[in-house]
Amino acid sequence: MIEVSDLTKHYPHAGRAVAALDGVNLRIGQGEIYGIIGRSGAGKSTLIRCLNLLERPDRGSVRLGDEELTALGERALQQRRRRIGMVFQHFNLLRSRSVAANVRFPLELAGDLSAAQMDARVDELLALVGLQDHRHKRPAQLSGGQKQRVGIARALANQPEVLLCDEATSALDPETTDAILVLLADINRQLGLTIVLITHDMRVIRQLCDSVAVLDHGRVVEQGKVLDVFLQPQHAVTQSLLAETGLGQAALLGQWRERIAMPLLKLSFVGAPALQPVLDKVGRTAGLRLNLLSGTLAEIKHTPFGLLLAAVVASDVELPALPAIFAREGVRCEVL
Ligand SMILES: Nc1ncnc2c1ncn2[C@@H]1O[C@H](COP(=O)(O)OP(=O)(O)OP(=O)(O)O)[C@@H](O)[C@H]1O
Ligand SMILES: [Mg+2]
Repeated sequence: MIEVSDLTKHYPHAGRAVAALDGVNLRIGQGEIYGIIGRSGAGKSTLIRCLNLLERPDRGSVRLGDEELTALGERALQQRRRRIGMVFQHFNLLRSRSVAANVRFPLELAGDLSAAQMDARVDELLALVGLQDHRHKRPAQLSGGQKQRVGIARALANQPEVLLCDEATSALDPETTDAILVLLADINRQLGLTIVLITHDMRVIRQLCDSVAVLDHGRVVEQGKVLDVFLQPQHAVTQSLLAETGLGQAALLGQWRERIAMPLLKLSFVGAPALQPVLDKVGRTAGLRLNLLSGTLAEIKHTPFGLLLAAVVASDVELPALPAIFAREGVRCEVL
């Protein structure tokens, strides 16, 4: 659906050009929810602005479907941009317009529909985001979550193929964040819409995304299916982002390693085995006694997963045999 090749963008800083994006490659599938995560200044907003070409990259290409956006002239691009919806961190609503009029605005700009058709479309969109009862309010009379619902409805007005979200939940409290993430997941399912979502929060990635790319200093340092990246993070930035949300073991591991002389096991459970008494079973058959050091049980997009870090107190089998024994129970075991 979206193919980004060698995307590079420099900004002048202190008399020289500094790369905000440095050879970024991405492939985002039709109907996928694709997360882009990174620390502040990693280049996330620059990347999303280059995806709809609000910003022209210095080098590289962006393809949407079978069209190369980077090859289009300004006029054609303006047409094409209507098929790309955008949701902002600070909502960017028009203060003097009502909720309904904000949602209607992009329809007026496009000029494809009659007044009656526009009204019908606005009704449909307000129902989709659950704001029918607030249509006459001004943005100032809405909560943050409601403002973002208006932002989402407006972004969907012209039936985009892609929805770009730049930190769409960063200004919201955790509960409201959850509600907006549920709404985005519903929209993705109902409309089959491809969503590209930028965040600095791994919990957002875990709840919503199918795939993720980790951006650092303008480069993609890691990408893949969310489950794979969460269970086997490769890059230090990914590991520390996970550790901050309590979903990684990297930080903890460093501390424990120094203090514990016993061998350590990292056990990853995905899907059904996460809910089975696997430790008890292997413990008895292999005479394995463990001291649990840390553990997480959570869900990634409705798939349960668990991560355990344990020290081996005793084992009847040689340690190198343990991964195969755990594998028979559907659990990945690494001897650290
Ligand atoms: N218009 C600009 N002019 C000059 N430098 C810029 C401009 N926009 C971004 N930069 C620089 O490019 C780098 C990447 O910025 P960007 O806004 O893409 O980061 P980000 O990952 O979105 O950060 P945050 O999480 O804080 O929003 C930063 O070093 C920033 O200072
Ligand atoms: Mg940003």
